[in-house]
Amino acid sequence: MAEYTLVAEKTGELRLDATAKEQRYATLAAQIEATLRGEPDLTAAMASIACLLHNGFPYYFWTGFYRRVGPARLLVGPYQGTLGCLDIDFARGVCGACATREETIVVDDVHAFPGHIACDSASASEIVVPVFDAKGQLIAVLDVDSTLPAAFDEVDQRWLERIVTLLRDKEPRPVVWAAPAA
Ligand code: SME
Repeated sequence: MAEYTLVAEKTGELRLDATAKEQRYATLAAQIEATLRGEPDLTAAMASIACLLHNGFPYYFWTGFYRRVGPARLLVGPYQGTLGCLDIDFARGVCGACATREETIVVDDVHAFPGHIACDSASASEIVVPVFDAKGQLIAVLDVDSTLPAAFDEVDQRWLERIVTLLRDKEPRPVVWAAPAA
C-alpha cells in the first residue's frame, strides 16, 4: 500500500515541464503498482488509478474510466472531477474514437475535434487511452481532461499506456454476499 498520496496544487501554474512530468509519473506509477498489488478487483483498481492520477497532477481536471458495456457502447466508471456524461456510443466523441480505433488519442483543442462531447465546458484538451484485458479485448478507455490547451503529450501517452496494463489481470468481483431473506 502507498505510504502517502501525492496531492498536487490545482491552482497557480498548472503546467509541468518535461522533467517534472517524467518524475511525477515515475513516482505515481510505482505508487499505483504497489496499491494494486494483490487486489484482483477491476473496479477497485480503476478507482485507485483514477484517484492517484487525478490528485497527482495539477493539470488533470477530469480523470476516469468509461467501461465497455456493449459491442459499441461505453458507460462511465470510476472517476474524479466534475460530473461526466454517462453513456458514450463508439460513434461519438474522443472516447468513442479511441474505443473504435483501439489506440490512444491526444487532442490539443477539444473544440476543434469533430463530435467532441463537452461534459464540462472547462475542458480544453484531453487524452484517451484504450484499456485491454489479458485476451487483448478492449474493456474500457481511460479519459483525462485538462483546462489547459495542449496539456498532454507523448510523455503522458507513454506512462498512461503503461499504467493501464496493470488492469489486464483484474476482473469484476462476483457478488458472493446476499442479504438474508426477510
Ligand atoms: N470529452 C469526452 C467525453 C467524456 S468527458 O470529457 C468526461 C469525449 O468527447 O469523448
